[in-house]
Amino acid sequence: MRVLWLIKSANRAAPILHSKGQDPTVSADIPTTTRHPKHPIITLTGFMGSGKSTVGHPLAAALGWTFVDLDAAIERSQGRTIPEIFEQEGEAKFREIEALTLRSILETTACPFVLATGGGTFVQRHNAELLRAHGATVIFLQASAKTLLDRCCHGLTEPEGTVRPLARDPDAFLRLYEERLPLYRKADLSVDTDNRAPEAVAQEIALLLDSL
Ligand code: S3P
Repeated sequence: MRVLWLIKSANRAAPILHSKGQDPTVSADIPTTTRHPKHPIITLTGFMGSGKSTVGHPLAAALGWTFVDLDAAIERSQGRTIPEIFEQEGEAKFREIEALTLRSILETTACPFVLATGGGTFVQRHNAELLRAHGATVIFLQASAKTLLDRCCHGLTEPEGTVRPLARDPDAFLRLYEERLPLYRKADLSVDTDNRAPEAVAQEIALLLDSL
């Protein structure tokens, strides 16, 4: 399961629900043809290693929606990896590309769709505002610092060049996590991911959407 998790690649009027991480069994029904016209764009946010892409796939599959991965879209359009963009042009340029790619996805993707963002996307105010302007429902995938460190910084087997640029120094990684937490908590919904299968998290989100 650990391998699965490592696969990569404003406020508003709506009520905010914070799930305590109930773990409905994976076999419970998610109607595969469910449509949530009130929430046609589901955006997953959370720190690196929280499972945004890994949960996004089964969530989109369960809902019968399109899945879009922002980091993958950036890499496709740039013809290079995110570590390469950071290395060649720096983080500020990466943030520009990220914001432009986000805008393009929101303007061109047919609804409904599930969007997995990068860990730094929603914490940039202009991106959060853009998501709000498009009526996206934002879901924060929570995980403890220990889980995130284990997934991103410890026991990595990937070659150096594929390690996330902001996960190379565990102390800086933890500081960034603490700094961003209050911003992630502005999401519409928070779901625990610690020690849970991506499919179980996806199922919980699909069920909670009905209560939003
Ligand atoms: C980043 C997270 C990464 C990627 C980039 C920057 C961040 O995405 O967008 O390395 O600032 O937290 P994941 O959260 O999907 O690893």
